[in-house]
Amino acid sequence: MSQLVLRGFRLWPLSWHFGMAHQIAGLVLLSLIVFGTITGVIIRTKYVASLREDLKARGESIAQSVARSIQRGAIRQDPASLGLLLKEFGQIHGVSYIAVLGQNGEVVAIGPQDAALEALGLAQAAAGDTPVVDLAVPVQSGMKGSVHVGVDLGVVEKGLEKVPAIVWRIVLVSILCAMSVAVIVYLSTIRPIYVLTESVRQIGQGRFPRAIPIRSRGELGMLARSLEQMSADLASYHEQLESKTRELELSKEELQRQNEEIRKAQSQMIRSEKFASMGQLAASVAHEISNPLAGILTYLKLIRRRLESGRMGEGQQETIRQYLVTMEKETERCGHIVKNLLDFAKSSEPDLREIDIHRVLDDTLFLLNFKLLMSDVLLEKRYEDVPLVAGDFGQLKQVFLNVIINAIEAMKGEERVLSIHTQFHRESQTVLVEIQDTGEGISEKNIYRVFDPFFTTKRGGTGMGLPVVYGILEKHNADISIDSQPGKGTKVTIQLNVANPRRVSRTNQEPTESRT
Ligand SMILES: Nc1ncnc2c1ncn2[C@@H]1O[C@H](COP(=O)(O)OP(=O)(O)OP(=O)(O)O)[C@@H](O)[C@H]1O
Ligand SMILES: [Mg+2]
Repeated sequence: MSQLVLRGFRLWPLSWHFGMAHQIAGLVLLSLIVFGTITGVIIRTKYVASLREDLKARGESIAQSVARSIQRGAIRQDPASLGLLLKEFGQIHGVSYIAVLGQNGEVVAIGPQDAALEALGLAQAAAGDTPVVDLAVPVQSGMKGSVHVGVDLGVVEKGLEKVPAIVWRIVLVSILCAMSVAVIVYLSTIRPIYVLTESVRQIGQGRFPRAIPIRSRGELGMLARSLEQMSADLASYHEQLESKTRELELSKEELQRQNEEIRKAQSQMIRSEKFASMGQLAASVAHEISNPLAGILTYLKLIRRRLESGRMGEGQQETIRQYLVTMEKETERCGHIVKNLLDFAKSSEPDLREIDIHRVLDDTLFLLNFKLLMSDVLLEKRYEDVPLVAGDFGQLKQVFLNVIINAIEAMKGEERVLSIHTQFHRESQTVLVEIQDTGEGISEKNIYRVFDPFFTTKRGGTGMGLPVVYGILEKHNADISIDSQPGKGTKVTIQLNVANPRRVSRTNQEPTESRT
């Protein structure tokens, strides 16, 4: 969002310091002063102009009536009679002089006094430079000449000297009017606005006024009523909210209490589960080992009896040898169980390195080469261009060894194909290893149990292969899934994380395929 900043200059500084009432009062006063001043100036100008026009008209009318009197011969035209007449007219306010001039401009008579002559001369010579205006009317018949009246416009200005007192009175009345207007505006608008603002502030603070003391019927009154309604609604919502909050707090406490109970029950369950699985494991181990041990004990007793009877012929020796072979096998089986159990139990952390999964697979297949040949299994490899994975070489070899042996052991029918397929899954940044066989498959009932320790369907099997596999992969943060169709075969998919996801090349080369 763009912003306009005027440095060192505030567009409307008043708004920061004064309230609305002050602003309105100031504006009213200012407009009254401006209005009064403009009106005063206009009135004065118009008044002066009208007075001047009036004075001129009066002077002209005096000159015309004197000229008419001379023309009609109503007065004698000798200077003495004229002088008397002019003296009379000269007394009129604003008339500086009145003179009758002859045909050649000579003064026949002038009034009201001798100084008038000088004024006439000045007025005529200056032609407008003095405040005295010379108004002339010709005399057409009888005595030829003209009547001149000098009107002193200065008397107008002098008369206006009284004006300031009038102006002050007007200003005083205006201020009184302004104050009355301000009081009316304050009572009718500003005070209600204050009240409304205060009420809104209270509502904002969560105090909800029930009544807003504005009784006017105008817009502000309507606003006050709406605000009252809004305040009442908000108060009721607020109450509801508070009661809901209280309820929520109570349920939260209840929930916390229940959670605590569940947590206790859970930890108890985990403890008993642990004991149960430990017991199960111990029972399974005891069962697995007690059978061969019982067999060994039986054979040991038989051998002891033979030795004690002292009958040790050729045939006896052969029987004892067979007993010993069986005992050896059973002991080996016990050792095998214990070793697998140790593999499973010992939680050796994998030594994660960047490893080539194809090398791990090939090393494993090299170990199993003889078994594959003996079992008459056709091997199909489809290696795609995959990045290095994060893994422990030895542990992953153990994983593939267990899975591939299971696959070989499952193939007893005609078709015996073992397919190993690797591919890179870009989205999850993992490498998938699919090991598929065409063996007997796993029944729906058993597929959920294959990772259980000691679960086996094989004679002589320990049922520890897949649990070991699972344990190793879990430590690699890798996944394993098994899909199987009874009678058709099983596919084991192992998903390993790539060693360095950012360095993984984006080019995909053609896969290499081989069949052996
Ligand atoms: N590829 C497979 N095809 C069919 N069944 C399988 C396959 N892999 C595992 N199973 C089933 O899962 C069971 C458990 O396998 P696991 O490797 O854990 O033990 P095991 O092979 O029976 O014994 P051990 O691995 O000690 O020789 C097997 O007995 C078998 O029933
Ligand atoms: Mg196995």
